[in-house]
Amino acid sequence: QTTETPDHYSRCLAAVEAIRARHAAKPTLGIILGSGLGNFASQVENPTVVPYADIPGWPLSTVEGHSGKLVLGKINGVEVAVMQGRVHAYEGYAMTEVTFPTRVLGLLGCEKLIVTNAAGGINVSYGEGTLVAISDHINLTGHNAALGPNEPRFATKPNAGARFFDMTTAYSKTLRALAHAEAEKQNIPLPEGVYLAVLGPSYETAAEIRAFRTLGADLVGMSTVHEVIIARHMGLEVLGLSLVTNMAAGVLDQAINHEEVMEIGKRVERQFTSLLVALIPQVSAA
Ligand code: 6GU
Repeated sequence: QTTETPDHYSRCLAAVEAIRARHAAKPTLGIILGSGLGNFASQVENPTVVPYADIPGWPLSTVEGHSGKLVLGKINGVEVAVMQGRVHAYEGYAMTEVTFPTRVLGLLGCEKLIVTNAAGGINVSYGEGTLVAISDHINLTGHNAALGPNEPRFATKPNAGARFFDMTTAYSKTLRALAHAEAEKQNIPLPEGVYLAVLGPSYETAAEIRAFRTLGADLVGMSTVHEVIIARHMGLEVLGLSLVTNMAAGVLDQAINHEEVMEIGKRVERQFTSLLVALIPQVSAA
């Protein structure tokens, strides 16, 4: 199945029912953890841990470092649903599979979504380990996650779920402002940047990175945009955070390797965790 169909909605509902059977409390905030950031899930108090394999219809990842479970419970007083691991289109998954978890988070009751990722740095003012608040995105994956007949039942609030939906402020200004204020308070640098998504799995060439810089991109990665498109279709407010795990091709005089991605995550884990834990009640109340 490459596009959404009416049947897709019932499959998402079946997943919601399976999760609710394990954890009755309703999450109001969804958090998707990117590569190397999965340890954040340990912040959930008295967690209900649901392996993705136990949720009907939920796609299972093939990549190392994406362990694959949904962690439900409270962080800093807020009922959250944390995704440790996600699938990517470059693994061969259809858009309907890539965005299935986002649909389920919305149907579970999440009104806000914090989406995180590991990204390559295009903006030369960034360095390895820089956290960036995503201000906007450029979708060059060649896919749109909302392809297929429109399903208005996915709307989580009035005016959402339209065939054509606005992406002008896909990354909420209000939530970004909260992130910047909290980062400043904690003395964590948090620049803003435009995230450009490619399909992958190859990293880019140096020429592609120069082209992307000309297009206005600060970050490059292989995730996030599909989830954000679907979240906006449903009416969720989105905060996007990237961790620059490495500079993109040609920025530094060195090759890019996947091990870096996991290592940098560990190095920035404390900053990332304290920023996010403090932000959760603020984002939830916004
Ligand atoms: Cl350099 N490119 C892409 N597409 N994704 C990345 C990356 C680069 N570094 C981390 N993730």
